[in-house]
Amino acid sequence: MAIALLNNAILPLAEARISPMDRGFLFGDGIYEVIPSYAGRMVGFDRHMDRLNQGLDAIGIPRPMTNEDWASSLGQLIEENGAGNLAIYLQVTRGVHAKRAHKFPEQVTPTVFAYTFEISAPNDGDPASASTFSVATGQDLRWKRCNIKSVALLGNVLHMQEGIDSGADEILLFNDRDELTEAAACNVFVVRDAVIATPALDHEKLPGITRNMLVDMMRDSADWQLQERSISKAEVLSADELWLTSSTKEIAPIVAINGLQLGDGAPGPYWQRAQHLFAQNRFNY
Ligand code: PDD
Repeated sequence: MAIALLNNAILPLAEARISPMDRGFLFGDGIYEVIPSYAGRMVGFDRHMDRLNQGLDAIGIPRPMTNEDWASSLGQLIEENGAGNLAIYLQVTRGVHAKRAHKFPEQVTPTVFAYTFEISAPNDGDPASASTFSVATGQDLRWKRCNIKSVALLGNVLHMQEGIDSGADEILLFNDRDELTEAAACNVFVVRDAVIATPALDHEKLPGITRNMLVDMMRDSADWQLQERSISKAEVLSADELWLTSSTKEIAPIVAINGLQLGDGAPGPYWQRAQHLFAQNRFNY
């Protein structure tokens, strides 16, 4: 039975109830995180807490608990759900108010919700067991504050469906200058001529924890030519390898773009090295 956390209670997910007057429901007024956990150990917990707290601060929702309290509540949630290969979804909304009005209500208590869902077993860089992705490309039509991990994901939802409707699994997005921003639910890495590049962070992209951990691991191991910079659409379309990164996928190889096979249509050698590096270090960053 799936178990959830709702405010201060641990309860069956099927019994969790919130008010329709919750501002998360009415306005998408909240912040969320997705944290991977393998055999009871969370990946990048401190980084996820930092991003959560930054997001809450950015939109003026008071932090509902300390990082230590999050660690113990989420640890309990993981145990209650069997401590396998899990992602923890958590969200904090501004809370419930009797009147629907755009302005922030006074005296409102944030709503805290978390539950877990199963994810694939972690991969150590073995191409045979990797999940591969095909992607479409499209123009990024989201708002100008994509660095905030807001629960208001309509822009991302519509872009993901645009990718699915064109027969792909994800979509790579480009800004008005035809520069790569990110995918509907992942960050992106581009490999060309032995150089690994990923878009520099700004308001057009989520500062992905998986992205940032991989960047730090590559910088620390020194065997990589890594660049954080603007990446043109032409570079993406002529890449040797493309990867998606996210907490639920770690590093995922793209094998087709706009219906055309990429490389030999299998995870590439740089992906194998990168996912191996990630697997060796995922609990140390
Ligand atoms: N998505 N960019 C976007 C728009 C995302 O939604 C995500 C994650 C990422 C990758 O960030 P991270 O490495 O911190 O997971 C980038 C999550 C998993 C989701 O919404 O389900």
